Amino acid sequence: MSAPRPEPARIVVLVSGSGTNLQALIDAAGDPAYGARIVAVGADRPDIEGLRRAERHGIETFVERVADHPDRAAWDAALAAAVAAHEPDLVVLAGFMKLTGPAFLARYGGRTVNTHPALSPSFPGMRGPQDALEYGVKVTGATLFVVDAGVDTGPIVAQVAVPVEDDDDVETLHERIKTSERAMLVEWVGRLAREPFTIDGRRIRFQPKELS
Ligand code: GAR
Repeated sequence: MSAPRPEPARIVVLVSGSGTNLQALIDAAGDPAYGARIVAVGADRPDIEGLRRAERHGIETFVERVADHPDRAAWDAALAAAVAAHEPDLVVLAGFMKLTGPAFLARYGGRTVNTHPALSPSFPGMRGPQDALEYGVKVTGATLFVVDAGVDTGPIVAQVAVPVEDDDDVETLHERIKTSERAMLVEWVGRLAREPFTIDGRRIRFQPKELS
């Protein structure tokens, strides 16, 4: 039997918007068996529902706006420091609409995951659902990946497929994606929190249970 972690993994979640993915993680982490605790929620902008969700649950929040720093590199270093203040084991970008930079990755590379509303490597960037719809694909989805220096290019942790319906617009498609995306995020962030893993090239490998 694998030895239980002595303490739940500490998770910092970064958001930029409504935070429904964050809410799914907050709800999951309410169960001690989930093995993770959200210790802080950060954002790149104030006054968003994602931050209010955290506050309603008594979770600490912080905001680092790019505009409050002389340049992008200074913002990136400040973001890394703000995250570090909460000593996370894992960082989850859940609708965080900024690219993290070298300072952030130097500290949290290999233990930061991001969720993207498309099936990577298709449709990277900020407009995943719109680009999929415009291309005319019949199946799209969501991808959870380990953040690297590229745009939605890191090693893939999990993917979920979602059909595109003939009468979809960007909003209906994105909402259908998000329903599956939240379930994927909860399942795999829990696994990353509870089970030792290694990143071997582009493959995430969980340690076999009998060894952990
Ligand atoms: C999610 O679909 C997430 O994948 C996407 O923003 C949405 C956030 O929803 N992220 C990106 O597009 C990042 N490039 P939420 O705020 O309701 O969780």
